[in-house]
Amino acid sequence: MQDIRFEQATSFKQKPQDESKMGFGKLFTDYMFEMDYSVEKGWHDPRVVPYHNFSMDPATSVLHYGQEIFEGMKCYRRKDGGLQLFRPRDNFKRMNRSAERMAIPQFDEDVAMAGLEKLLEVEKDWVPHTQGATLYIRPTIIAMDAMLGVHAAHTYKFYIILSPSGAYYAGGLAPVDIYVEDKYVRAVRGGIGFAKTGGNYAASILAGMNAKHIGYAQVLWLDGVHQRYIEEVGAMNMMFVYEDRRIVTPVLNGSILPGITRDSVLKLGKHLGYETEEARMDIHDVIADIKAGRVTEAFGTGTAAVVSPVNKIRFQGEEIGIGDGGIGHITQQLYDVLTGIQFGKTEDPMGWVVHLK
Ligand code: PLP
Ligand code: COI
Repeated sequence: MQDIRFEQATSFKQKPQDESKMGFGKLFTDYMFEMDYSVEKGWHDPRVVPYHNFSMDPATSVLHYGQEIFEGMKCYRRKDGGLQLFRPRDNFKRMNRSAERMAIPQFDEDVAMAGLEKLLEVEKDWVPHTQGATLYIRPTIIAMDAMLGVHAAHTYKFYIILSPSGAYYAGGLAPVDIYVEDKYVRAVRGGIGFAKTGGNYAASILAGMNAKHIGYAQVLWLDGVHQRYIEEVGAMNMMFVYEDRRIVTPVLNGSILPGITRDSVLKLGKHLGYETEEARMDIHDVIADIKAGRVTEAFGTGTAAVVSPVNKIRFQGEEIGIGDGGIGHITQQLYDVLTGIQFGKTEDPMGWVVHLK
C-alpha cells in the first residue's frame, strides 16, 4: 500500500473553549487528508497536510456540473479517553458506490482508511470531551478538470476534513414536526438518490426552506414517480414503529440513501427483540395507520442526529400527531443503545466499533 506522507503545520488554531457552543460543521481542525487522481497515475500522493484553501480555475468541472461525492461519519471519545470510529469501512464502501454512479474512479478503501487513521492520530486532541459531542469526518471527492464539456473529468481530488461538532440536541432528543412534500421531489427513478452527491442536497433546499417558513423542521419526501411512497425525511432515513413492537422503514429502491444508521437500527432492533421490516410505504396507508393509533412512534435516522423523533406530520393541509408527542420508548431505547455503542459505554454486540491507536 502507498505510504502516507506527512507535512508539518507551522501555525495552529485555538481549540474551542466551550464545547457546548460548537454547533455543527462550523469549525475545522489544523490538518486534512488529501490525494489526487490522474489517468496516468491513478490515485496518488496520499498525504496528511496542513488544512488549506484550494486554488481552482473558475472552469473547474465540479463547480459547473457537480461531479462530486461525499461522506459523513464521526470519531467518538470514550470515557477512558480512547478514540473510536463506528462502521467507517461502510462509509468508504458507500462512497465507492456513489463514485461508480457519478463516473468517478474507484479508490482503494484501505488507503482511505489508513489516511483517516493517520489524520486522526495527528488531530486526536480535537476530538471533543463533552458528552454527546464528536469530531465529524467529511470525506469528499471533486472533479478537478478545468473544462466546460459535459463528460467525466480526467483529474480528481479526494480529501478528508474534520469538524468538532456539538451534540445535535443540546437539551436531549427534541421531537420535530414534519411536512409531507407533495410538489417537489428529491430523487427520481434511475437518478442519483442512492448516491451521496451534492445534487441531491441542492435539489432539497427549496422544499426544506418552504417547510421551515411555515413551521416544519423537515420535509418528508415521497417517491419521484407516483409521489405516493415514503422515501426519506430531510437528510435522514425514516422509520415507523407499529404497535409498539414492529419497526418499519421504506425499502431501498435506488432513490433512497442506504443509511448506515438505518442499517444499524434495523439490526439492533432485531437484536433487541423487535420485528423489523423494509416495505414500500404508501403515505395514505401510513396516515390512516397513524390516525388509527397503529403507528406508535416515528423517527428519522442519520449520523448527525442519530435519531430524530417525529411529533406531528402535516399531509394535504391536515396535521396529525404521532403517539403522545413525546419521545417514544423504542426511539429512546435505540438512541441509548446506539450512542452507548458509539461512545464505548455499552458492549458492541455486532463488532461495529473500530478502536484507534
Ligand atoms: N439520507 C440522506 C439523504 C443523508 O444525507 C443521510 C446522512 O448521511 C442519511 C440518509 C443517513 O445516512 P447515515 O445513517 O449513513 O448517516
Ligand atoms: C446526517 O449525518 O444525518 C446527515 O444528514 C448529514 C448531512 C449534514 C448531510
